[in-house]
Amino acid sequence: MSDPGTDAELHARRASSFGDQAGAYARHRPDYPRAALEWGMAGASRPVRDVLDLAAGTGKLTEGLTDLGRSVTAVEPDADMLAELSRLLPDVPALTGKAEDIPLPDESADAVFVGQALHWFDLEAAFAEIRRVLRPGGAVVALWNHDDESVPWVLEFSRLIRTGVSRGFADPDRPLRADGFGRFSHELFTHTHRRTVDSLLATVATHSHLLVASAEDRDRRLAQARKYLESVPQAGTGEFDYPLVTTVLRARRS
Ligand SMILES: C[S@@+](CC[C@H](N)C(=O)[O-])C[C@H]1O[C@@H](n2cnc3c(N)ncnc32)[C@H](O)[C@@H]1O
Repeated sequence: MSDPGTDAELHARRASSFGDQAGAYARHRPDYPRAALEWGMAGASRPVRDVLDLAAGTGKLTEGLTDLGRSVTAVEPDADMLAELSRLLPDVPALTGKAEDIPLPDESADAVFVGQALHWFDLEAAFAEIRRVLRPGGAVVALWNHDDESVPWVLEFSRLIRTGVSRGFADPDRPLRADGFGRFSHELFTHTHRRTVDSLLATVATHSHLLVASAEDRDRRLAQARKYLESVPQAGTGEFDYPLVTTVLRARRS
């Protein structure tokens, strides 16, 4: 049986593990397809002008949202991640803060986006805060990039390295609910990430389960993954398009 104390401690360590590798994170994590961001915004019943990127990290999602012409504020608890974001996107207001205590006034955003991070939140407290900062009719949008496991060699790689991010939120048998929001709907968007064997391994090395692993365990897993990738014709030499899927969940604030 798992020890809840240990699980909670590991969860907290993983949630705060990214900052040490902020530069690598910015260099090697994928961004999000434009269609996924547009679909998320279409969940609002009001024009979307002011957007909060919550748990903004180094600004992967922030950049996509500013490219769509939105006025974006970034909130992120980790100082190193936030510093990287401000270096890359100096014009974006960047605030230190957590989802459970958002440093913004009531009804100040038309949409709140969360990239690759909802699974780190205390959901009840976070949704209460997200609802507070959203204007009526505004949308909450959560996105995750993950490996496209419909591709057999990607499925095998994904199993080997255990890259899985939390996808349970899009499980139709366990629909996400939040007080003060309508039903969550979800959509999938395929895209790709231009990689080499080295840069794909560098991407994987920024995943929290490897960030908190011992150096020995991390090196062993990455060596196994390299051996596998070098045996796959689609990945073995030079650059290739690594297949990804973005899962998006959206709901409207009542
Ligand atoms: C995997 S990164 C995602 C960063 C960025 N959104 C992206 O899409 O690349 C997860 C981020 O969530 C942040 N985070 C963890 N717990 C949080 C919380 N309770 N509230 C807000 N952010 C949190 C971490 O500091 C980290 O920057």
